[in-house]
Amino acid sequence: MSLEDVTREKWATRIGFILAAVGSAVGLGNIWRFPFQVGQEGGAAFLVMYLLFVAIIGIPAMLVEFVVGRSSERNPINAFDRLGHGKWRFIGFLGVFTGFLILSYYSVVAGWVTRYTFASLTGAYFGEPAAYFGQISSGPAAIGFHALFMVATAVIVAAGIQRGIELAVKVMVPALLALLIGLIGYAFTLEGAAEGYAYYLSPDLSVIAANWTSILPAAAGQAFFTLSLGMGVMITYASYIDEDRNLGVDGGWIAGLNTTVSILAGLVVFPVLFTIGAEPGSGGPGELFVGVGGAIAQIPGSRFVGFLFFGVVTIAALSSAISILEVLVSYAIDNYGVERKKATAAISSIVFLVGIPSALSLDALTVFDQLTANLLLPLGVFLTVIFVGWVFQDSARELAKGTSGNANGTLPTLWIWHIRTVILAVVGIVLLISARNMYQTLSGML
Ligand code: PHE
Repeated sequence: MSLEDVTREKWATRIGFILAAVGSAVGLGNIWRFPFQVGQEGGAAFLVMYLLFVAIIGIPAMLVEFVVGRSSERNPINAFDRLGHGKWRFIGFLGVFTGFLILSYYSVVAGWVTRYTFASLTGAYFGEPAAYFGQISSGPAAIGFHALFMVATAVIVAAGIQRGIELAVKVMVPALLALLIGLIGYAFTLEGAAEGYAYYLSPDLSVIAANWTSILPAAAGQAFFTLSLGMGVMITYASYIDEDRNLGVDGGWIAGLNTTVSILAGLVVFPVLFTIGAEPGSGGPGELFVGVGGAIAQIPGSRFVGFLFFGVVTIAALSSAISILEVLVSYAIDNYGVERKKATAAISSIVFLVGIPSALSLDALTVFDQLTANLLLPLGVFLTVIFVGWVFQDSARELAKGTSGNANGTLPTLWIWHIRTVILAVVGIVLLISARNMYQTLSGML
């Protein structure tokens, strides 16, 4: 018997798994990344592609990870051994590697958000939002807040699954929804609201046809990033759940709530950008800060509103960062018997160091972001789908557990053929395009 058989925990409450998975999914991907991807990829047309990706590829791919996690009750690397296919454990290693890279720059962006939370109290960015973002986004100050955020993440992970993650998420998700709805009400009153809604919500489908080699990988990357897919988070979280849960229903809730938050965030950001006359997409990674920060500066009670908004985004980022660090830490605990606190301290220190280039240069941060979201996450999804669809024989049976049907029922059968064919084909195409785009970007930079 291995160490993990003795120590493995389960979610304390029935809702604990959903809350934690939503906490992982909802984060900077929804509020920071989604709006600037929409802006860079042409607005509503991107929104349509992204929604299609979430529904047709994202949710079934999430179930793929749930199946691996629940049937193995292991971390994403050991899961494959446990299922009798140790050769496939390289998928788990790829996930852990991707997680390292994502967390490294994620923490830098979360550090900016943390800083804006405090800066709201003094109004530091109110005067010149763009200049302020330029000053704080790269350099020693950015490294400082990156460190601060990593420490906060590590403290929660060191405290352990139930006490740490479940409790935190129960408070942060409802708070985030409430706050966004309040801000939407405010954005609705702005002069640029109508123009913002038109840009965001009325798609021009010819834009997709003309730009599909950039929209397709961006939509796939955004869908996987925001749903926390492709690097083992959902494998890890599903490894703590009981067999009586209906995976399809849980997956639907998680994806539905997560998508709601993104759509709501767009309803705040675009009216604001059009009101201040900023071209959507032009702000890149700074868009949220320059756009929304600038608007917050204009409204009554701006210090308080800014503090609340960035404070809640910090909390959302924290619950996502926790989920990434948990994958890395649970691997160290399961395989090397390292004590949780020690593993957390060591791993978060390394992640901090890997994040330093992103804290020094926006270009470096963008390269890390593109490489992970558009290439490594789709690769992780692609390989896991091959495994679950074609190699592991019990996938449909595992999916059917906790439902009234069995493995030969309509839904499990549809699902298994959908992942075996449609998903592999689409994600395969995305990978080819992304690899080509990445090659071109890198050779352009050198
Ligand atoms: N889904 C998180 C977000 O949108 C980020 C994340 C990506 C978390 C991959 C885990 C794994 O902010």
